[in-house]
Amino acid sequence: MAGHVLVTGGTGYIGSHTVVLLVEAGYRVTIVDSLCNSSAGALSRIAAITGKPDAVTFVQLDLRDRAGVTALFAATPFDGVIHFAALKAVGESRAKPLLYYDNNLGGTLVLLQAMADAGCKTLVFSSSCTVYGDGVPPLSEDSPTGLTTNAYASSKLITEQMLADVCRCDPTWRVCILRYFNPVGAHPSGLIGEDPRGVPNCLMPYVLQVLVGRLEKLTVFGKDYATRDGTAIRDYIHVVDVARGHLDALAWMRKQLEAAKAAGGATGLLEYFNFGTGTGSTVLELVAALEKASGKKVPMVIGPARAGDVPAAYANIEKVRRASAAPLTHSGELTHTHTTVFCRRAACWAGARSTPSTTARGTHGTGRAKTRAGTRCR
Ligand code: UD1
Repeated sequence: MAGHVLVTGGTGYIGSHTVVLLVEAGYRVTIVDSLCNSSAGALSRIAAITGKPDAVTFVQLDLRDRAGVTALFAATPFDGVIHFAALKAVGESRAKPLLYYDNNLGGTLVLLQAMADAGCKTLVFSSSCTVYGDGVPPLSEDSPTGLTTNAYASSKLITEQMLADVCRCDPTWRVCILRYFNPVGAHPSGLIGEDPRGVPNCLMPYVLQVLVGRLEKLTVFGKDYATRDGTAIRDYIHVVDVARGHLDALAWMRKQLEAAKAAGGATGLLEYFNFGTGTGSTVLELVAALEKASGKKVPMVIGPARAGDVPAAYANIEKVRRASAAPLTHSGELTHTHTTVFCRRAACWAGARSTPSTTARGTHGTGRAKTRAGTRCR
């Protein structure tokens, strides 16, 4: 048995993909999620993909509910925690910074206290490349962090600092901080994917909604950047690769622990890993790949640059590559995903969701969209 993992935010986009892989790998999973930005429908989809409905327990809970979180840890001896649960809309975080600090930091604080009290000190934290602010790419884990421009980004950075302080004062904690670049795509089953409530802020879900006719056209935010075609560059990584990286991080930490015990050394660790492909794509390149994958044209106009956007952000993934020999991730797993492959999957998923067959809620769904269960997106 691989162990019992608590996954906060496990019904969300990256969380649901990670839960699928955990269950497939033999883990028992407890999901805690407030459902404030996701749907319980993800649970039946996870069960449909894995065929193991009993492997997952769901608890609807806001992490700020101290009594509830404490009771959860008292009832179950978890082997580790993967912490996704957080609000993540940058624009909303600019308008409501205190909501973001309260939810993202308050929830994490309660979680860490409950973990410490229960003696469960193994954590994988879902962070973001946004902590690098306006850094110069390729961004390595040693690149300076800071200069964040919104409360969402600041909440990720402050959580990272909180975790560093916790590890400094108690060297028995084992913490992996994963800084995602731009996760995109959908599970090959076509059953789970990204489906934000309302009009999407991020490029990929926005273009997908244009492709399926929910939105009229894409506005490209700026064409005067000093890049190869004038549009901004990002490092788009397939969500299944990101999800797999969490399992690899758990396995890597276990291996480090065994090695430290055998050597009689310190068992604690705090490590940071970039989760990107190491290759940047421009907005126009991503759109072209989606058009090729879907066989449809994406209507678009050029608009002004979005405030706060950086011209280019892509990862240096040498550290994760080195760790992969350990292995943190399967050889080549983080780099083999080419734009066309994940775009085909994402476009297929969006197409499947607009097929008028059985109605089902998406991972983040509002209940409007429909999907044809079992559509394979390879
Ligand atoms: C997003 C998040 C950021 C997170 C990062 C990595 C937002 C607003 N930002 O930023 O917090 O840390 O991913 O996970 O959610 N674009 C358009 N038209 C659109 C939408 C986007 O041209 O309608 C462009 C953007 O200007 C940008 C690129 O597409 O150049 C990607 O945008 P987006 O998907 O929002 O990602 P990030 O800007 O990297």
